[in-house]
Amino acid sequence: MKARILGTGSYLPEHVLTNDDMAKLVETSDEWIRERTGIRERHLTDQGTLHMACEASKRALLNSNVTADELDMIIIATFTPDYLFPNASCQLQAALGAPNVPCMDLSAACSGFIYSINTAAAYIQAGMYKKILVVAAETLSRVVDWEDRSTCILFGDGAGAAVIGADETGILAMDMGSDGVKGPVLYCEAWPITNPIVNKGKAGKLRMNGQEVYKFAVRRLPKTIETVLQESGISVDEVDHFIFHQANRRILQAAAKHLNIPAEKMPMNMDHCGNLSAASIPVLLDEHNQSGKIKRGDKVVLAAFGGGLSWASALIIW
Ligand code: ACO
Repeated sequence: MKARILGTGSYLPEHVLTNDDMAKLVETSDEWIRERTGIRERHLTDQGTLHMACEASKRALLNSNVTADELDMIIIATFTPDYLFPNASCQLQAALGAPNVPCMDLSAACSGFIYSINTAAAYIQAGMYKKILVVAAETLSRVVDWEDRSTCILFGDGAGAAVIGADETGILAMDMGSDGVKGPVLYCEAWPITNPIVNKGKAGKLRMNGQEVYKFAVRRLPKTIETVLQESGISVDEVDHFIFHQANRRILQAAAKHLNIPAEKMPMNMDHCGNLSAASIPVLLDEHNQSGKIKRGDKVVLAAFGGGLSWASALIIW
């Protein structure tokens, strides 16, 4: 038994912050941001992670022709939940109505969506569950330092979802890994310790050594893609769509050059969403799917890299 993506959904908040708007907040320009990253604008939420997760999930369920009460499990990838507990997936369960099913949040930063679908696939392949809702939702505007021009220009808010179901075909190969030693190049501290014996200051903000992340990404992205290609015995030429984490156009172009991936097989959407961390892949996947570009039987490679540092990929028959 394999785990197939039955359908997708996504949600981007209405409010848009353009690069010109950004230039009113920090010393930057539309030209600098577009040249270095490919980003033109990003969406910002005033309602938070659960709201976006819920909207994306409803669309994914509709697109999959699955109702919430048919679900066996809910997984949300996020590091920006509205509450520490109850976890975001339990809140989503209550909002959608999927009584009594197990719900878990999975934190793997930008690799979180692929970690989550690979986890869902393992449950399905083991015969434990038949239909699992996998969501990635991030309110990155909550953790961005709006005074740090080297990071605040990069990120946006959004959510994407997919329903994974048992079928004869689907995910053929998966790869996941991490290197915690390199964690300090991209991090966000949680709450400070404030108690009667110590007061350690303010809540954390996202911090990044951009050049180290760049070096890691351009090395690791091709490697994880090669791993799933080799495992499934499928060549780059045979793959129809490469859906990658939308961190930065230059990183993706470097990986595409290394692997000889033609531009038309590697869609990008960071121009209108920025970097959505875990949500970037399911949002792009949904945009590509809803526009009718992915056909049943197509071969799709998903691949991501990010905080941890972590990486993950999957090769899927649609
Ligand atoms: N506008 C104008 N100037 C800026 C800005 C800005 N928004 N940000 C930084 N600068 C300046 C710097 O101050 C520096 O000025 P200086 O030379 O006078 O000191 C100059 O631009 C160059 O700064 P660098 O940090 O060296 O810029 P770099 O060329 O490395 O580009 C970037 C920065 C785009 C972040 C790059 O490092 C990169 O692509 N890194 C990959 C990391 C990434 O994409 N992370 C995304 C999030 S993590 C993830 O999703 C996994």
